[in-house]
Amino acid sequence: MSQDSSAAATASNNNVTLTDNVTGKQATFPVRTGTQGPGVIDIRSLYAETGYFTYDPGFIATGSCESKITYIDGDNGILLHRGYPIEQLAENSDFLEVCYLLLYGELPTGEQKVKFDRGITLHTMLHEQMANFYRGFRRDAHPMAIMCGVVGALSAFYHDSTDISDPHQRMVASYRMIAKMPTIAGWAYKYSIGQPFIYPSNKLGFAENFLHMLFATPCEDYEINPVIAKAMDRILILHADHEQNASTSTVRLAGSSGANPFACISAGIASLWGPAHGGANEAVLNMLHEIGDKSNINEYIKKAKDSDDPFRLMGFGHRVYKNFDPRAKIMRETCHSVLNELGIENEPLLELAMELEKIALEDEYFVDRKLYPNVDFYSGIIFQALGIPTSMFTVLFAVARTVGWIAQWNEMIEDPSQKIGRPRQLYTGQPYRDYVPIKTRP
Ligand code: SDX
Repeated sequence: MSQDSSAAATASNNNVTLTDNVTGKQATFPVRTGTQGPGVIDIRSLYAETGYFTYDPGFIATGSCESKITYIDGDNGILLHRGYPIEQLAENSDFLEVCYLLLYGELPTGEQKVKFDRGITLHTMLHEQMANFYRGFRRDAHPMAIMCGVVGALSAFYHDSTDISDPHQRMVASYRMIAKMPTIAGWAYKYSIGQPFIYPSNKLGFAENFLHMLFATPCEDYEINPVIAKAMDRILILHADHEQNASTSTVRLAGSSGANPFACISAGIASLWGPAHGGANEAVLNMLHEIGDKSNINEYIKKAKDSDDPFRLMGFGHRVYKNFDPRAKIMRETCHSVLNELGIENEPLLELAMELEKIALEDEYFVDRKLYPNVDFYSGIIFQALGIPTSMFTVLFAVARTVGWIAQWNEMIEDPSQKIGRPRQLYTGQPYRDYVPIKTRP
């Protein structure tokens, strides 16, 4: 499905040699270089040649795949989607155009954009029986629990797009996933507040439709504020894809076994839910409410710095960014424009967040560890201003990230070197021992 729009990774004439200091045995491994960023040491023959595995919990220095979709330069705070910087996409593009770019590798022509938008629009409805799934949940179920369940259940309805060996079926499943997530999310929200489900409208754009399904009711016309719709569309762009993060790696690993795309996306949603990942936007709002007032900031900064205290400054830090997350900067600007449009002045949570950011960025603990605000630090303040409940924040992240997950899933399926993901381990458990019958145990 993707067009090869950039140079493939090249095998450089460089290599590295490992020497076992005990046996003196040496093994040499090729270095491969990409179009940008660090090269990689291809260690696929390491175990065969040395009898050793590598050891890298959390994959801090491990490349799991070759990809052409997204590139992050963490030291310089750069994020590119198919080579285009996130700042320019956020300013000039729209979410469905970014979806097209992530899926196909190039920006669409005018004609391709119209066709793609229409193709997504025609897949926004859900099979009517899927509404029954919602009624099995308690009204107070966390919406992310509902998303995991309902998205996984898509496998039970859309059998005609689960054959992953068929490029056409993969494309149909991709369109279905992107198109149906706002509907599934909107219905999860409506179910939680006891309001009737709102069907998608083919007259509306992607972000407008999402707002419509979240906030419209059958009783009166829902007026969409164009500034809010544009802000929502921009927020979706900012969350669309991000290299091999935890949830994307989950989707790739699930997909590597041949699982159907709906099941893989459901796995990605589950991984995103964690507070160390996509769940951080909800955790930031809860943290700001807990801090409550600027006068308490220093107490919480102290807790965040205390290695014996599990408290962390949510929305701060990142595995890759050791500089400002470029998305956080755009999110902060969007926050101001949304609050201005809504006539919200001196929003206490925004004031608190900005003071917290200022103090943290002047504190050597955060400076030494290169901990900066990430995409989640400001997003919750915008969502709350839009009237979205905290429990729905990570759902919005999942709606946006679905295109990244499905684009990376397609790339994995199309990768000729793709194998089932099956990491090894360093075993430190009991050595071989015989079973002891219970009567003879001490
Ligand atoms: C997302 O991977 C992606 O691309 C994710 C994402 C995407 O778009 O997909 O960008 C989205 O998940 C953003 C991150 C959202 N999570 C949070 O905001 C939660 C708070 N952040 C942390 O939990 C943490 O920073 C992580 C999980 C984001 C990154 O953790 P790492 O890379 O494993 O870093 P680490 O835990 O090894 O921390 C290094 C040091 C440690 O101190 P020391 O042991 O060196 O003394 O920094 C400290 C940590 O204690 N530290 C923090 C901190 N984050 C790291 N201390 C206080 N507050 C924090 N937030």
